[in-house]
Amino acid sequence: YGDFNQKIDYVFKIVLIGDSAVGKSQLLARFARNEFSLDSKATIGVEFQTKTLIVDQKTVKAQIWDTAGQERYRAVTSAYYRGAVGAMLVYDMTKRQSFDHMARWLEELRGHADKNIVIMLIGNKCDLGSLRAVPTEDAQEFAERENLCFMETSALESTNVESAFMTVLTQIY
Ligand code: GTP
Ligand code: MG
Repeated sequence: YGDFNQKIDYVFKIVLIGDSAVGKSQLLARFARNEFSLDSKATIGVEFQTKTLIVDQKTVKAQIWDTAGQERYRAVTSAYYRGAVGAMLVYDMTKRQSFDHMARWLEELRGHADKNIVIMLIGNKCDLGSLRAVPTEDAQEFAERENLCFMETSALESTNVESAFMTVLTQIY
C-alpha cells in the first residue's frame, strides 16, 4: 500500500494496431496483468488498460488502448488516435499477410496521430519459430526505412513484451 497515493508525473497514451489475431490484446494482457489466454476473443470496439511504472525516475501511467483488427468491429479512428504519444504496430510473424498490411496501418496511423508519435514495429508470436513467415531482416529493413523501432515478441512466453513497451515509454519521455 506504500504507493497507494503515488503521484503520477505523466500519463502516456499508447495505441495498439494491426490485423485481427496478431496478438494485440494478449500483448496488452501480458504487459498490464502478466496474463495470457490461448482462446482470446476478438476485440470489439475499444478497450484500454493502465499500468503505472517508473521511467527515468518519473512515475508514468501508461494508458494502453487496444482496438479490433477486424474492420467491422473497429471504433471511430480519429478518437482512437487522439492524444496518443506511442504506437505498437503489431504483425504475426507466422502470417505474411499481417506483415504486408503494416504499410497500410502505418499510413492510417500517420494520417491520424501526432507527427512526433513514437512507433514500435512488433513481430509477435516468436515462440512459433518453426512457422515463421516473415524473416527478421524484412521487418528490420521496413522499420529502418520508416524510422520505427522494431522487436520480435511472444505474449505467450513473455519474450520482449516488457522490453517493447519500456522502449516506447522511454523514447516518449
Ligand atoms: P483482434 O482483437 O481481433 O484484433 O485480435 P488481436 O490482435 O487482439 O489478437 P489476440 O490477442 O486476441 O490473439 C489472437 C490469438 O493469437 C489468440 O488465440 C492468442 O492466444 C494467440 N496469441 C497471441 N499472442 C501469441 C503469442 O505470442 N504466441 C502464440 N503462440 N499465440 C499467441
Ligand atoms: Mg484484440
